[in-house]
Amino acid sequence: MSNAQTLRLGVNVDHIATLRNARGGHHPDPVRAALAVIEAGADGITAHLREDRRHIRDDDMARLKAEISKPLNFEMAATEEMLRIALATRPHAVCLVPERRLEVTTEGGLDVVGQQKALGPFIGCLNDAGIRVSLFIAADPAQIEMAAKLHAPVIEIHTGAWCDAVTAGETSRAETEWQRIVAGARLAQSAGLEVHGGHGLDYATAEKIAGLPQIAELNIGYFMVGEALFVGLAETVRTMRAAMDRGRKTAASPA
Ligand code: PXP
Repeated sequence: MSNAQTLRLGVNVDHIATLRNARGGHHPDPVRAALAVIEAGADGITAHLREDRRHIRDDDMARLKAEISKPLNFEMAATEEMLRIALATRPHAVCLVPERRLEVTTEGGLDVVGQQKALGPFIGCLNDAGIRVSLFIAADPAQIEMAAKLHAPVIEIHTGAWCDAVTAGETSRAETEWQRIVAGARLAQSAGLEVHGGHGLDYATAEKIAGLPQIAELNIGYFMVGEALFVGLAETVRTMRAAMDRGRKTAASPA
């Protein structure tokens, strides 16, 4: 459970596979990257098997499960095909995300309220299989309450809108989005949910969100893969870990 002492770093290796797929061969290998980031201190690996297999492929997921020593967080859409693969792969966790074919990345949160009829049994099936379910949602009270009602043990708050506003220098929008995240994290914890965060985070935003004591895990990919081009994966993980640790220190005092 989240507290001021523990904050896990999950590294998303999707974009190592994006780079590999640009030439269609085996290099760079996302599994090798996963092993390297774990060696450097990552607490888990996240990978998204998309319907169009644009980055991670089925055998990447199987190899990640077989070869890494830390928890595997399998990101996927709530489809029958993905459920079958997840049940066969048996990852530590499944993070359910919305997926649209033409999107560049996961653009918004899951509509748990609108899809409650379909998601309820889906979550139940993963719960029964002993796979920890996380729902990737906006910090919206109705979505958070529905996640708890459907017995998802975890939510991951979509930090993309906040990070975009910070990057664009739109201070007032950034503050509004930040306050949504703060309130959402509090509400989720009080509803008994474990709270994760992810999307668009960099060193500065990860440090800031690490200051929220309710957050137990951050899942970060794109920025870290880009940064690794300049300083290497291991150094990127160490710098991110240090930023998160600095942020977490501030979480010990009440917000
Ligand atoms: N968490 C979830 C649920 C995601 O869909 C993504 C993007 O694949 C991430 C975290 C990581 O986002 P980013 O690559 O922007 O750090």
